[in-house]
Amino acid sequence: MRLFLDSGIIEEIRLVQSYGILDGVTLNPSLVKKAAEKREEKKQDIQMGDYIRSILKSVPGLPVSLEVIGLDAVQMIDEGRRIYNMFHPVAQNVVVKIPINCAYGKKTNAFDGIKAVKALSSEGIPVNCTLVFTPEQALLAAKAGARFVSPFTGRVDDFIREQAGMAFQKEDYFPAEGLKRQGKVLHDQGICSGIQLIRHIAVIFKNYDLDAQLLAASIRNTRQLREAALAGADIATVPFAVIKQMVAHFKTAEGMETFTDDIVPAYAQLLKGN
Ligand code: E4P
Repeated sequence: MRLFLDSGIIEEIRLVQSYGILDGVTLNPSLVKKAAEKREEKKQDIQMGDYIRSILKSVPGLPVSLEVIGLDAVQMIDEGRRIYNMFHPVAQNVVVKIPINCAYGKKTNAFDGIKAVKALSSEGIPVNCTLVFTPEQALLAAKAGARFVSPFTGRVDDFIREQAGMAFQKEDYFPAEGLKRQGKVLHDQGICSGIQLIRHIAVIFKNYDLDAQLLAASIRNTRQLREAALAGADIATVPFAVIKQMVAHFKTAEGMETFTDDIVPAYAQLLKGN
């Protein structure tokens, strides 16, 4: 499974890249806002163009998704081309992120996202289709030519739990199967958890041999990441906090302590070469 970092904070991107485990980066307007606020707090300059260039240069060759902000197909296509032409030459790694459906409130242009995915993909611009909450949306995005399709795993779980009035923390894995066993069926249009959404999309992409890569987004905790991998996601994009949790286990720390306590001098000498 490839691992993308869901962050616009350059220090985090560089750190994870230095571990040698990074396969890409995803940004959205909220993550850009967070990165800008963090720099403001530290009184560091944020010239947006330069900042994005430095992110791209930090991960040469690894796909970095940059999201459009337009609210119709014309704007999104225009912005997608502009983002790609302006930034792709920097490190050959720009992917344009397009919402599956940009309509909200009273707007009725529900298919403009699909149109933009189709237009940009046909021009050879790689697209990450975002804000996917159903297998049907994923199918449309793949048919329109998206290279990556991003179902929002964590937000599905958040929504279902909120509807059910359940209290939860980000770190809590949503035990959809457990709830079913208790006779409760909580769902959104038949989708009973973020992981079930990933599973359904994985089956559909496989059944119809669709080229799009399934990118599990909105990952909240390590258990969710594991289940997404088991469900067949090609990629997961995860926040820095989840990357840190992935490597940790108290028994590992305990084992390290015992092994360190047990080192005999002759063994230490041998390994240190003195
Ligand atoms: C990345 O592509 C998505 O925009 C991101 O994973 C959304 O995550 P959130 O639900 O934590 O905001």
